[in-house]
Amino acid sequence: MCGIVGYIGTQAASSILLEGLRKLEYRGYDSAGIATVHEGQIQCVRAKGKLQNLEDKLAGLENPARLGIGHTRWATHGKPEEYNAHPHMDTAYRIAVVQNGIIENYRELREDLKAKGHEFRSETDTEVIPHLIAECMAHPVADQGQSLSYQSPFLEAVRQAVNQLEGAFALAVICADYPDELITVRQQAPLAIGFGQGEFFCASDTPALVAHTRAVLPLENGELARLTPLGVEVYTFGGERLKKFPRTLNWNPILVEKQGFKHFMLKEIYEQPGVVRACLEAYLRNDWAPEQSQVSPLNLNLPAVWADQLAHIQIVACGTSWHAGLVGKYLLEQLAGVPTQVHYASEFRYAPPPLTPHTLTIGVTQSGETADTLSALDMERQRRQGQPPDYQPHLLGITNRTDSTLATIVEHLINTHAGIEIGVAATKTFTAQLVAFYCLALELAYRRRTLSPTAIAPILDGLRQLPAQMELILESQERYIEELSHEFVDTQDFIFLGRGINFPIALEGALKLKEISYIHAEGYPAGEMKHGPIALLDAKVPVVAIAMPGAVYEKVISNAQEAKARDALLIGVTVSQDEHASEVFDRLLPIPVVDELLSPLLTVVPLQLLAYHIAARRGLDVDQPRNLAKSVTVE
Ligand code: AGP
Repeated sequence: MCGIVGYIGTQAASSILLEGLRKLEYRGYDSAGIATVHEGQIQCVRAKGKLQNLEDKLAGLENPARLGIGHTRWATHGKPEEYNAHPHMDTAYRIAVVQNGIIENYRELREDLKAKGHEFRSETDTEVIPHLIAECMAHPVADQGQSLSYQSPFLEAVRQAVNQLEGAFALAVICADYPDELITVRQQAPLAIGFGQGEFFCASDTPALVAHTRAVLPLENGELARLTPLGVEVYTFGGERLKKFPRTLNWNPILVEKQGFKHFMLKEIYEQPGVVRACLEAYLRNDWAPEQSQVSPLNLNLPAVWADQLAHIQIVACGTSWHAGLVGKYLLEQLAGVPTQVHYASEFRYAPPPLTPHTLTIGVTQSGETADTLSALDMERQRRQGQPPDYQPHLLGITNRTDSTLATIVEHLINTHAGIEIGVAATKTFTAQLVAFYCLALELAYRRRTLSPTAIAPILDGLRQLPAQMELILESQERYIEELSHEFVDTQDFIFLGRGINFPIALEGALKLKEISYIHAEGYPAGEMKHGPIALLDAKVPVVAIAMPGAVYEKVISNAQEAKARDALLIGVTVSQDEHASEVFDRLLPIPVVDELLSPLLTVVPLQLLAYHIAARRGLDVDQPRNLAKSVTVE
């Protein structure tokens, strides 16, 4: 959360910074600001609220500066007011800093710096950084690693300052006295450097870079870089120079445009058939047949030991990725027979379960940057290191961003191939995570022989049909769901019910609705409703029930009828050929006939559309809902 950008080169910096911030606004939109250096002065312009407010403020202002930094904020310390907006500056207004992360020891530093005469103007943790750099410039510390002052006193001051910071942070720093230097820092928060022709960029995420360059170098933790018009130098916090080279991103800038859709979220819902196809193509062997039982039908390249000796799986994740983890648990237990626990990453870290032998830990995170998930994985690795061989860490990541920090923590990644997702509400990355879990569960089922090749084959066939079935839902249902959404513009509460493999989809349907429409929504296992939530029901509370023919169908129908008896409007997500459905449900969201086991990939689609259209009809900012950020890089 929070997005930072920086530019040094030959073009006017401010428009490049604004354009970069536009691509990072998904990371936070409580305020925005830029600072540029020109003729020995820093010009800093900030505005509360969305980036548009900053753009309005900057409109008409001539700014020829060729060096600058920018920020879009998701507030942690201090209210979302202009005085708390980044960039923050030192007392003399010579140094400007943008930060993504949290400085944990800012209170002590602030008191110390205040005592030394530094004047603070905000409530943020970040503001200590420019003051600390100014202090290090005025009074360099002698004994902190290898001094870089022969390269640049500014660089050395930043190095000395970051060595005093505790927490997770990424920084971009400029100084009015060093008009040819942009310093960037990374410590547990993402930061990438873009290499152009005589110009260099930095950003929290690559969408802000791809319009300018595909040559990108992600910094690693504990590194800082000095960007000048002549090139990029990378150092450790200890002052050691590193040899680093950019790599070429395989990216198409068109992916970060709306392509005619009203919102990114709707575009991303529509991309799901293609995403599922891409994911299946990546992991299913096309030429496999059950007779070839000596070859796995999947192509995941997992270490053999993970399957052969596997006794437990634990999944750590947050939000929508946690819901994907719940579907994963169902599949891993029911298909591959591996006892599996799913933990909220934020809980796992502070109350981890007792260590079990032969355990695979899976981190699920579309961004690969969620601080809670990364910390949980890192902690799991650390607490297993030094244990007997059976307890050694085995870490697997499921992510949409193989270039993310997650890749530096886990031993193996499953790439979900969903392409960049801009809408803050996850849609296509969720369905891609589900596909990853189907592939993983089938791979383990094959290797552990819990399913025979002939039992696996029809599941693979069913998976291959899903993209076309998703397309059918989108073609046939969107218009109706758009009309249906009119009924719920003033609704205040919703209940979503599901059972078995569709219980996590009820949770996901509720999360989608609440995060973008601000309607209170609860997802519940259908059978649990009578143990409490049924008290909420009356004619004003619609109930969405996912009723897929299969093991729990009749039970869900009974639970739905219990809701109907309390006057609730019943909306059913069920297969199109269900003859009884119209007798039970007041409104129907039909999906093509599908095996219950594979149904989550279809049942979630009408729920995404329902949430989208209700929010759009309420006139809300679907892609950037209030208080949220796409990538939550603070704990
Ligand atoms: C999804 O709609 C949410 N915005 C949120 O719950 C998200 O899934 C969560 O923050 C985890 O993100 P990650 O997958 O990038 O780790």
